[in-house]
Amino acid sequence: MKRKVTKAIFPVAGLGTRFLPATKSIPKEIMTLVDRPLIQYAIDEARAAGIKEFIFVTSRGKGALEDYFDHAPELESSLRKKGKKELLKTLKNTNMDSGAIAYIRQHKALGLGHAVWCARRLIANEPFAVILPDDVIAAEKPCLQQMTEAYAETGGCMVAAMEVPPEKAPSYGVLDVKEDMGSMVSVRGMVEKPAQDEAPSNLAVIGRYILTPQILQNLQKIKQGAGGEIQLTDAIAQEIEADRDVYGYRFRGQRFDCGSKAGYLQATVSFGLSRPELRGEFQGYLDEMAALRNAAE
Ligand code: UTP
Repeated sequence: MKRKVTKAIFPVAGLGTRFLPATKSIPKEIMTLVDRPLIQYAIDEARAAGIKEFIFVTSRGKGALEDYFDHAPELESSLRKKGKKELLKTLKNTNMDSGAIAYIRQHKALGLGHAVWCARRLIANEPFAVILPDDVIAAEKPCLQQMTEAYAETGGCMVAAMEVPPEKAPSYGVLDVKEDMGSMVSVRGMVEKPAQDEAPSNLAVIGRYILTPQILQNLQKIKQGAGGEIQLTDAIAQEIEADRDVYGYRFRGQRFDCGSKAGYLQATVSFGLSRPELRGEFQGYLDEMAALRNAAE
């Protein structure tokens, strides 16, 4: 089996109900951290990992997402005339080569597993990555790159894993660890959204995966699981049952759950402070707010 991963699926067909009313007309993935939409962070991470084909699983009302990757001739010519080279460079990063990007429609939000299955014909018989753009990861080496490098050694299926406190386990897929090898663990089982006292470990799966094409065949047969959705976790758990290797990868970096309001706000603060041109003014404002709060208490 080939161990080079060149295709990535971006499931973006969810309803984004936690951000209503904004997501009534704006796809969640177009919401910005500082000045870049969430999807741009995901694309940059994929490119750094050597991804060449970008497959979006979309749904109704995601037109803004498709437009985002197009050229903008009027805007570009206006910037060119004004000599705004830096901005032109920034815009260039948003463009995709013709044929490098594909959109597949998920007609009903039947779950993440179903969204991935919708892309089956474009994946054919290759390993592929899955990136959930609402999980944004700040890392020195981009998370998917860390994983593709590890995957080149191991093969099998690999999920990004992160330690969470016990009370958070019911919000995640949780790994049942067979052997802990440090940055990598081998997995003996996976449970989607376990009750707090039934979580098999504190290692939760977050939105980065490298999967074998067998997963698509598993998804074909899977029935609705937790929450009435077709779960990707269940398809990966079937690999373990079939005695094929599944690994959890403890990535180095900080993950922000930008699908939740609190996570999105935390990411905004963190990414704002990481920008040299904003840091001084923004940090000053945060300090001032903290001082006012302390004075009021
Ligand atoms: P979420 O669980 O965050 O759901 O999906 P959501 O619909 O986006 O947001 P809320 O919970 O209603 O606020 C995780 C990822 O899976 C995709 C989403 O777009 C997101 O990237 N997804 C989910 C699909 O593509 N299709 C689905 O049927 C479900």
